[in-house]
Amino acid sequence: MLFDIFEIREKRLQNRLCAAPLASLSGSADGLPTERSLEVYGKIAASGVALVNVEHHAVNSTGRVRPEQFLADSGEAAAAHAKIAGLIKNGGKISVAQISHGGANISSDGIFGLEGFRCLSPSGVRVGKVWEKLSAEPEKLSLPEIKKIVEDFAAAAERLVRTAGYDGVMIHAAHGYLAGQFLSPLTNLRDDAYGGTEYRRARFLYEITDAVRRTLPDAVVSVRLGAADTLPDEKPHGLAVEDTVPVARELAALGVDLISVSGNLCGYGMDRTNGSYFAPYAAAIREAVGGKVPVECTGGIRGIKSAEKLLGDGCCDLIGVGRPLVADAGFLDKWRDVI
Ligand SMILES: Cc1cc2nc3c(=O)[nH]c(=O)nc-3n(C[C@H](O)[C@H](O)[C@H](O)COP(=O)(O)O)c2cc1C
Repeated sequence: MLFDIFEIREKRLQNRLCAAPLASLSGSADGLPTERSLEVYGKIAASGVALVNVEHHAVNSTGRVRPEQFLADSGEAAAAHAKIAGLIKNGGKISVAQISHGGANISSDGIFGLEGFRCLSPSGVRVGKVWEKLSAEPEKLSLPEIKKIVEDFAAAAERLVRTAGYDGVMIHAAHGYLAGQFLSPLTNLRDDAYGGTEYRRARFLYEITDAVRRTLPDAVVSVRLGAADTLPDEKPHGLAVEDTVPVARELAALGVDLISVSGNLCGYGMDRTNGSYFAPYAAAIREAVGGKVPVECTGGIRGIKSAEKLLGDGCCDLIGVGRPLVADAGFLDKWRDVI
């Protein structure tokens, strides 16, 4: 099954393996790819995966999480990213650029010195360890600011597809970044149209998805969905998979081409390296969307047998691979050996 051909929005994937988005920390101070970025993506483009999700690109200057992050806020920036899209396409793979806004989840205090940066969030709740050494607080987004960010997602998506030449975009709604901050009741304390019920907490993500889908009717549009704030083997706290099951159904109705399942405030299971730990969440979401949208599972998948089992058991349709790919872009040859 892993080596079966698969199709997404009339684009043919040579197998069921996807490169997970992995921040390479290789961007220039103005968020553009460098020689090192091209080296990183050249290797991934030559690996055995069928689809490459390129690391998170901030949709505007307030959405950055660290200075080395890719930025997609202008036509010039998108033109610079064309080199990466080209490498992936030349490698015969489907190319997808992740679009993101970090909100209150910053990775470096160096971000405060960058032009145009303001730390915006649903409710002023701090996310991440960097805040421990800071006296500043995140700002609470106003309604017009929320609308503007939704527009910025659609504009960045359009640039990355039309100017940079990507086959599509992945909307980042995981790992405690802004869309994930809206989803979680721990970071979204609003009592307006964007907070309170599960539907209202997801409204920001729905508006982004709808805007991106309408802007790019022919491109691949996927969502990286942080299924819960805790890992499946932990006691639920905050966002639970029962909350994201209806979100996944609504995303399917909005016309997304793929849902990539990961964690929200629990991150991507940073300290876990094996065990396909998000499989229970992927299975719940796949069942909920009932075959209308393919589901990708990523996190701790480390061998051909595990991958085949996840596909065979109906947990997911596609397998995401992150850290093994960075460690050795030739990982797939070793995986093949154990069939
Ligand atoms: C160094 C590093 C950078 C990452 N950057 C991103 C990112 O830009 N966007 C994203 O959605 N996930 C990111 N992730 C999470 C990965 O996409 C993936 O979900 C995680 O590594 C678990 O999969 P794995 O066990 O196969 O590595 C990153 C993970 C690592 C280790």
